[in-house]
Amino acid sequence: MRITDVEASDESLVQDIAAMLVDGFRQNAPEAFPNLATAVAEVRESFAPDRVSRVALDDQGMAVGWIGAIKHYSGHTWELHPLVVKVDQQRRGIGRALVRDLEQRVVALGGSTIYLGTDDEQSQTSVAGIDLYPNVWQHVRNIRNFRDHPYEFYQKLGFAIVGVIPDANGFGKPDILMAKRVGLGT
Ligand SMILES: CC(C)(COP(=O)(O)OP(=O)(O)OC[C@H]1O[C@@H](n2cnc3c(N)ncnc32)[C@H](O)[C@@H]1OP(=O)(O)O)[C@@H](O)C(=O)NCCC(=O)NCCS
Repeated sequence: MRITDVEASDESLVQDIAAMLVDGFRQNAPEAFPNLATAVAEVRESFAPDRVSRVALDDQGMAVGWIGAIKHYSGHTWELHPLVVKVDQQRRGIGRALVRDLEQRVVALGGSTIYLGTDDEQSQTSVAGIDLYPNVWQHVRNIRNFRDHPYEFYQKLGFAIVGVIPDANGFGKPDILMAKRVGLGT
């Protein structure tokens, strides 16, 4: 497996990544990429100058994972968005490798922090399906993972929960905010 930049001119790779996005988010966040056209638009947006777009290719050159990032805060901080690993290739270390690669890219670009929002639209955690107000932080502090929500994947990679947006996707469907210091910046 190798990780490389996605070339905007590689139309067949763009289509493969888009298909991976639709498949990867279908189960837990179906509204994220409801169809191929939405996913293709997302991949194309990742070619903007203030973005990072990196793909994991297997030994046959097929896309098995994709990670993007968006520059914020004058480049001190980047938003990881999105991350997907091909459904039949998950839990083999590809997601970890993509995040590590992004961390190195952000450091090389002078950034110090990566943050992300990871939605819980399917009551996979204890912070979904309930009213988080008024003691929001009590719920965050006691968060539990019922069904493979990716916040735990990010924790394993050194990200901390730094907040939550209650009802971000409708009542009881929060967005869990996470961040990691990856360097001291410039
Ligand atoms: C979340 C995702 C990117 C993880 O990628 P992956 O290649 O399967 O993860 P890795 O194999 O690198 O896992 C690294 C560690 O995290 C753990 N992990 C992976 N997914 C996890 C999950 N959903 N819940 C809890 N732990 C998880 C792994 O078991 C492994 O733990 P270990 O180091 O103790 O062995 C992948 O499952 C995916 O694409 N999911 C669908 C799309 C998605 O949810 N994207 C993120 C939205 S914010």
